[in-house]
Amino acid sequence: MSIYLDATRCRRTPRPPIWIMRQAGRYLAEYRAFRDKYGFLEMIRTPEIAAEITLQPIRRFGFDAAILFSDILTVADALGADLNFVEAKGPVISNPVRSMSDLDQLVGHDLRDRLSYVTQAIQALKPALGATPLIGFSGAPFTVASYMIEGGSSRDLKTTKQLIYSQPETMEALMDRLVKSTADYLNMQIEAGVDAIQIFDTWAGLLSYAEFQTWVIKPIRAILNRLRNPAGVPITLFAKGTALFWQDLVQLPVQVIGLDWQVDIGTMSRTIPAEFGVQGNLDPMVLYATPEILEAKVNQILETMADRPGYIFNLGHGILPDVDPAQVQRVVGLVHQFENERIRT
Ligand code: CP3
Repeated sequence: MSIYLDATRCRRTPRPPIWIMRQAGRYLAEYRAFRDKYGFLEMIRTPEIAAEITLQPIRRFGFDAAILFSDILTVADALGADLNFVEAKGPVISNPVRSMSDLDQLVGHDLRDRLSYVTQAIQALKPALGATPLIGFSGAPFTVASYMIEGGSSRDLKTTKQLIYSQPETMEALMDRLVKSTADYLNMQIEAGVDAIQIFDTWAGLLSYAEFQTWVIKPIRAILNRLRNPAGVPITLFAKGTALFWQDLVQLPVQVIGLDWQVDIGTMSRTIPAEFGVQGNLDPMVLYATPEILEAKVNQILETMADRPGYIFNLGHGILPDVDPAQVQRVVGLVHQFENERIRT
């Protein structure tokens, strides 16, 4: 019995389940204690450490789901991108893909071996988590491609768009590689025993509608079609900045739509068909608010979503590293306290 899994199937739950994006990370002292000793990629690649970091926020806050401690760029790394996480800069890839010959330099074969540490981390976690479900994840091809092309983070994805508009065949070939690798990667995670999947397309909202069709909807559909998912592990799609294109999102065979912090969750809830779960969307910056303002903002979301079965409380993007964990504890307390009005009556 898991209220998170119930909500992904649009079953009514006594209160909304809660987990938060980036729930394991630098805002926790117990994470920083490991991070002082190990590199980020080293932590991800060591199954015992990845499992331990995944468990930290579950122990501290009792979240209703755990998310595997890893990164969306593990697939890029496995494909041969020379990936490093640089302090205060984020991911850096020293061999970006900007031509067909760059793409040919990447490795083309068995990602299973290269990503076996993920299977091992999942296998270590399952017994330790008990009844708490484990969410596996991947980046969507467009967002992962953008890091592989830019060589790191970018405000406007200029280099990615240059590639799209000047060498569409290179972009097509890179995306094709990523569709196959990502599907294999998610199949690996499902086989290893994850209870749910979330796909992150963080930069999907930077595309025009036409390019969104080509580089977001089409490849995500191709991945979903490749999944071997006999038990029907539920799938959440978090495509930041794409609520305007909700009609296309709800054509995809996913169970939950993740909403970013910018949209009005009540309006979106009335818009998204009832058979979908809805997840989100507290502005992560609200975690800097006074306790009174924080409470008002959290309760506003809870009340707005009280009559929707399948609502999952979350932030509208990842938690920031300098947030006070006491604020997270407050949010969890408010969600735990909340009783769904419709269920009571
Ligand atoms: O949610 C979780 O707790 C699970 C783990 C997780 C991480 N990254 C850990 C992480 C997940 C699901 C991600 C996804 C991810 N990674 C996304 C998509 C979601 C989003 O936030 O938009 C993206 C775009 C990335 C790529 C990435 N990884 C960036 C841009 C950065 C640097 C920014 C930053 O926060 O430092 C990372 C690093 C990263 N990923 C950290 C963590 C805990 C910090 C690493 C450190 O300790 O130095």
